[in-house]
Amino acid sequence: KGRILSGVQPTGNLHLGNYLGAIRNFARLQNDYECLYCVVDQHAITVWQEPAQLAAQTREIASAFLAAGVDGTKQIIFNQSMVPEHAQLAWIFNCVARMGWMSRMTQFKEKAGKDRENVSLGLFAYPALMAADILIYKATHVPVGEDQKQHLELTRDIAIKFNNDFAQPDFFPITEPLIFGAATRVMSLRDGTKKMSKSDPSDYSRINLTDDADAIAQKIRRAKTDPLPMPDTLEDAEKRPDADNLLGIYAALADQEKDAVVAQFAGKQFSEFKTALTELAVAKLGPIGAEMQRLMKDPGHVDGVLRNGAQRARAIAAPILDEVYRTVGFLKP
Ligand code: TYM
Repeated sequence: KGRILSGVQPTGNLHLGNYLGAIRNFARLQNDYECLYCVVDQHAITVWQEPAQLAAQTREIASAFLAAGVDGTKQIIFNQSMVPEHAQLAWIFNCVARMGWMSRMTQFKEKAGKDRENVSLGLFAYPALMAADILIYKATHVPVGEDQKQHLELTRDIAIKFNNDFAQPDFFPITEPLIFGAATRVMSLRDGTKKMSKSDPSDYSRINLTDDADAIAQKIRRAKTDPLPMPDTLEDAEKRPDADNLLGIYAALADQEKDAVVAQFAGKQFSEFKTALTELAVAKLGPIGAEMQRLMKDPGHVDGVLRNGAQRARAIAAPILDEVYRTVGFLKP
């Protein structure tokens, strides 16, 4: 059985892309792997977070894992800062990774924009901490959305360089990304060429997991489309980003292949398709949103899940960090 680790940042506005690209798959993989699902609060503070909100957002993500069906008693749900071994290994990886590798990360380039002088040092080092999240458990598989692929390639590069530098060929595993489903890259509802994102200023660009049925309906009604009828073929759809995105979302929510969905709605009006999509989205997301709301009213329970998860995570991480320290040449306390 392989071991999975994946993480989600508690930066608010958890959305449909996070769900279809990652969180839904967390639950689907849990019978075939030993799983660790982490709320990465230390990654979140690479950009400013209000402390009181950070705590609430951390519970929101944990609630989403549970509401999506991850079993917190069988699998490990925890937050990153409760397991100090992540940051300890990240320091070593800061010394393994090269400036040049980090400079090529597209997520850094997008987030930093032109104002390189004023972004945090943590934002630059972000992918080394992510590699530590994964490798502190020697995880073999990482379920993520498409946008994390480059970070996972860097994780492999770090593992390979560490293994070579310290002449320990199989010390860290070469991690495999698990990117699957009909919606591995969900786009904005306002612009089919832009990724759906937590930080988009327009709330109409995304469906939040905590949106109620009315909000979901309104956002789908307002979603951008083109003036033509629905695409006839997959090739046609792929040339029309807004239509393609909505078809992908439908396919993922319905657990169908996208070409089957294209065939079902070929040549119809968007209004008809949007009615069907709304019904489907409300049916699939409504119960998850409601369960999240219920759990967020019970922070004691959620905190208990996180504390218990962190204890079990540390039991795996601590001996691996010990081995790393010995390998690097650090003296034992
Ligand atoms: P984050 O918090 O931005 O996103 C969480 C997960 O959601 C996926 N995702 C999407 N999938 C499809 N369409 C979208 N529009 C979309 N937006 C986000 C992401 O790919 C991710 O799987 N760096 C990570 C967090 C992280 C991590 C890790 C992940 C930290 N350590 C270790 C895996 C393993 C991030 O910022 O995800």
